[in-house]
Amino acid sequence: MLVLTARFPISKQRKAVKKRVNQKSDRGRGRQSLSRDSDPVRAKEPAAPSANQRPAAPGNLQKKGRQKDSSVEELSPANQSQFLASLDPHKIPAHVAIILDGNGRWAKKRGLNRSEGHRAGGETLDRLLDFFIQLQVPVISLYAFSTENWKRPKAEVKAIWQLLNEFFKTRSGRAMETGIRIRASGDLEALPARSRQLIAKVMQMTADNQRLTANFCVNYGSRSEICQAASQIVAQRLALHARSPAKACLPVSESEIQAALYTHDLPDVDLLIRPGGEHRISNFLLWQCAYAEIYVTDTLWPDFSQTDIIEAVHWYQSRHRRFGGL
Ligand code: FPP
Repeated sequence: MLVLTARFPISKQRKAVKKRVNQKSDRGRGRQSLSRDSDPVRAKEPAAPSANQRPAAPGNLQKKGRQKDSSVEELSPANQSQFLASLDPHKIPAHVAIILDGNGRWAKKRGLNRSEGHRAGGETLDRLLDFFIQLQVPVISLYAFSTENWKRPKAEVKAIWQLLNEFFKTRSGRAMETGIRIRASGDLEALPARSRQLIAKVMQMTADNQRLTANFCVNYGSRSEICQAASQIVAQRLALHARSPAKACLPVSESEIQAALYTHDLPDVDLLIRPGGEHRISNFLLWQCAYAEIYVTDTLWPDFSQTDIIEAVHWYQSRHRRFGGL
């Protein structure tokens, strides 16, 4: 059995795993899944857990009649502990942000419509959410719908909002069991009343949960977030001007801006994960990502597994962060 240490770089892990996989297939015991065989790190995962081992997505996120994609396998409990032990507990990112990209391409590859890709992306999030608790990551942010996404065809926009509404409506029970605080960032006032109510309800219900904060960025754009922060500060300064004109004219500080952001109570992003291979930030948490390490992978979001998350965190732990110093 392969034991990975915290200081064992991911490239070496890949080589070691590849060697092990080659030895296995030499013995005629190669893995069955094509996608896993072509990826040595994925090939280290055991056979897919049986249905009763696999955490189920909420019923209404799983479309009736569609088979769950069998190429995504999660780690067995034994491998999970082994991999978790391979991480440096002192270098766990305080805030992981994920751009949920690649749903459309995932669907296209399978001859499905884009909405099916978003459904699969929602299932993937549902499958992986609790894993961040095991990783002891305290905060994750998920880019689920941008202010620019309204430009997409009406049917796709509707499908995404149906999925989000289903998620906010049904996920509160499990969030309460596992201790997840669900919150949202974005221009929520501009959302349809139904979505606003569902988001407000799940935020209120889970407000005291402390194991993981899941920050859903919906109708979110970083530039518009900064504009609304600036507007708040202007309003505060105008109010202050009557009492204290000198104070009202002081330069605006970083902490004032931070306090006026949607994410005012969250730490800066340490690790930004971008599935789907695009090398851009797409107007996501620009202020908060000032010193984030950016991890880009070709894996499409619906194909993401626990192994992909661990790979990203391993990579993050190998980075030398200088924050502008030496
Ligand atoms: C980007 O992929 C994804 C979105 C714009 C929507 C993300 C929404 C979900 C994952 C579904 C709902 C979420 C939850 C939390 C239930 P893309 O369509 O741009 O993919 P492409 O680049 O392959 O076309």
